[in-house]
Amino acid sequence: MGFHLPLYFIFLLLFLFLLCPILQAAESQEPACGKEACGNITIPSPFGIHSTCYTEPWFRVTCNPTLNGVKPFINVNGIDLEVLGKALYSDAILINNPVTYINCDSINEVSGRVNLLGTPFFFSSKRNYFGSVGCGNLATILSNEAVSLGGCIQPRCDDGVSESGCFTQITANLTSYTVNMTAMYPDSKRWASAFIFSKYSFRSAYPLPTGINNGTTHVPAVLNWNSTYCGDGVDFTI
Ligand SMILES: *[C@@H]1O[C@H](CO)[C@@H](O)[C@H](O)[C@H]1NC(C)=O
Ligand SMILES: *[C@@H]1O[C@H](CO)[C@@H](O)[C@H](O)[C@H]1NC(C)=O
Ligand SMILES: *[C@@H]1O[C@H](CO)[C@@H](O)[C@H](O)[C@H]1NC(C)=O
Ligand SMILES: *[C@@H]1O[C@H](CO)[C@@H](O)[C@H](O)[C@H]1NC(C)=O
Ligand SMILES: *[C@@H]1O[C@H](CO)[C@@H](O)[C@H](O)[C@H]1NC(C)=O
Repeated sequence: MGFHLPLYFIFLLLFLFLLCPILQAAESQEPACGKEACGNITIPSPFGIHSTCYTEPWFRVTCNPTLNGVKPFINVNGIDLEVLGKALYSDAILINNPVTYINCDSINEVSGRVNLLGTPFFFSSKRNYFGSVGCGNLATILSNEAVSLGGCIQPRCDDGVSESGCFTQITANLTSYTVNMTAMYPDSKRWASAFIFSKYSFRSAYPLPTGINNGTTHVPAVLNWNSTYCGDGVDFTI
């Protein structure tokens, strides 16, 4: 057996020697982490498309085809969120946040929910506002524990108004929230939407920032993460 060993090493060396240029070529084609691109978007660290570029599965980005070309997405609790790019703050990224529609003709109080529980992600109250499109409702945002974190009253208005609504500060960082929509007047319009959006992506105007209306389906929002997050935070009931 012993006398096969040198031969084996020679083959191994030859193999590595032949493979090396191929590996090098493959490596030089991969963009550096933090410089990967998907469509027009550069994926900021610690997010990444290639498995060597994200440190946690939370930061995995997939590049998916859409009607408007390929776009990057992260998946948070089963929901695909489009990545819009780097946020100008540490531990934050700009995402395209879907609005919650509330459409109910028969009851006075309706609600919608968003959930980032069990993930390191949260919406920072420093970087985002709560907003709502609609007419004549009190829009309230509540924490997971049903504590009110802010609210605003939409102007009373007619069907023909597409840019009616309100926005306000939120009083705490959010991982999970519920929105309550309460009609303030008998003629309040039941259709409404609610959303968390980036303070700095729109020009503030009363009563709703310029560019948001009843046709808005997504709004840019700053998504932060807790860099010392260590797992699911399993709760024990005693
Ligand atoms: C990339 O940017 C160009 C110019 O701004 C735009 O026309 C094009 O639609 C963008 N493509 C994607 C996939 O977003
Ligand atoms: C909310 O998150 C920000 C990070 O954007 C942090 O600086 C701030 O201390 C947090 N606020 C609370 C009340 O935890
Ligand atoms: C938005 O409002 C305008 C004006 O009232 C209306 O014509 C349009 O159908 C509304 N769009 C949606 C998506 O509800
Ligand atoms: C929000 O709505 C729920 C049920 O729709 C209701 O139980 C709760 O009292 C409402 N909270 C506020 C602050 O309006
Ligand atoms: C970040 O996560 C750690 C560990 O899970 C936790 O102790 C800490 O309170 C979290 N910080 C914030 C600001 O949520």
